[in-house]
Amino acid sequence: VGVVVLGLVGSVTGLSTPTMRLRVERNANFGKLQGGYLFPEIGRRRRAFAEAQPELAERVISLGIGDTTQPIPPNILEGLVSGASKLGTSDGYSGYGAEQGNAELRSRIAERVYGGRVGAEEVFVSDGAKCDISRLQLMFGSAVTSAVQDPSYPVYVDTSVMMGQTGEVGPAGQFEKLVYMPCKPENEFFPELSETPRADVIYFCSPNNPTGAVATKAQLESLVERARADGSIVVFDAAYAPFIRTPGVPKSIFEIEGARECAIEVNSFSKYAGFTGVRLGWTVVPDTLEYADGSKVRDDFNRVMTTAFNGASNVVQSGGMACLTDEGMEEIDALIDYYLGNAQILRGLADDLGLRHCGGIDSPYVFLDLDGRSSWDTFSAILEEAQVVTIPGAGFGPGGEGFLRLSAFASRASCEEARARISKLTHLFA
Ligand code: MLT
Repeated sequence: VGVVVLGLVGSVTGLSTPTMRLRVERNANFGKLQGGYLFPEIGRRRRAFAEAQPELAERVISLGIGDTTQPIPPNILEGLVSGASKLGTSDGYSGYGAEQGNAELRSRIAERVYGGRVGAEEVFVSDGAKCDISRLQLMFGSAVTSAVQDPSYPVYVDTSVMMGQTGEVGPAGQFEKLVYMPCKPENEFFPELSETPRADVIYFCSPNNPTGAVATKAQLESLVERARADGSIVVFDAAYAPFIRTPGVPKSIFEIEGARECAIEVNSFSKYAGFTGVRLGWTVVPDTLEYADGSKVRDDFNRVMTTAFNGASNVVQSGGMACLTDEGMEEIDALIDYYLGNAQILRGLADDLGLRHCGGIDSPYVFLDLDGRSSWDTFSAILEEAQVVTIPGAGFGPGGEGFLRLSAFASRASCEEARARISKLTHLFA
């Protein structure tokens, strides 16, 4: 009996199983990626600091990942609660919904966010902009060339690499076959389009993550003009659009004439309404956007969504509907006012330190110019000496080296305290 029991234990624990090796080759594109994804890496360094210095762990303030901190306001919360409650009734229960999203929510997005510039049937509701970028990549495939702003939100780059659109990373930290569009103080963080090689797909984010730069109407017109001349698709990331308060600054690429034939827009309720954990976003693919063979991009995206996605959660879509009522939109404005107030404090920190900066107006991100200092070293010094988590610009691509991103997604008290602590570290910036 003892022998039989040992044999069973062995097979459960794997102790007596002969060595086995998979005959499945690793997707070589994953080998090209540089280390882990940026934000988990920042989290890992924060935890390592807390383990090494547990007495300081409680003091840590995060101005790192752009994660919302303020509670969901009452009317929007009521939308989520009523969406959940309905599921407990025979009349209100619903199972699978349309993969493209609830028809009422699609039309509210078309009307209330886009003022009717796009049609409800062009809006695809989803679980967030980041997930939609991956699904767009699934649609574009591996043969396209992509262009990214440098620095840029890492998702555009990493998903292009995963899809096999790029070669290996070169000595300058840039992937072969990916077009980098430098964005720096000298060009006011807007790429020199005349010096940019053609790409099939251009990822463009405004208000920008990480630089906080906001593209003017004239700049977006030049982007659309270039995309039209080249027959390229602009994937416009408008996730931070509600932070725009300056009159005349476009909140959507579809405010630009000619964009309907060359642009897709990804967007999200995450930063609008504190939905980073709730998960709800959308993508607009105009009916007028056609591939070289005349087929509609929208039809292919619809195919992706119906095959690889089952629709956003019905509970969450009910919350999204509440966001787009008069009361919900007022609540969103108040949330954004709060974070913009924080951004002003962080801009004040740049002034305290005598550092040039971009962003923090019409944007939740402040991008500090470290005047040639290493961004990872500065990140580490600020964590060690002030217990404040920031994001090193180099994490957003080679063009981000020499900069540090501060996020206004924190409590007011945290921003004030972080400013007080960091502004004392004048020796770091002397
Ligand atoms: C950021 O910190 O850049 C954002 O939180 C990332 C995201 O929205 O995925």
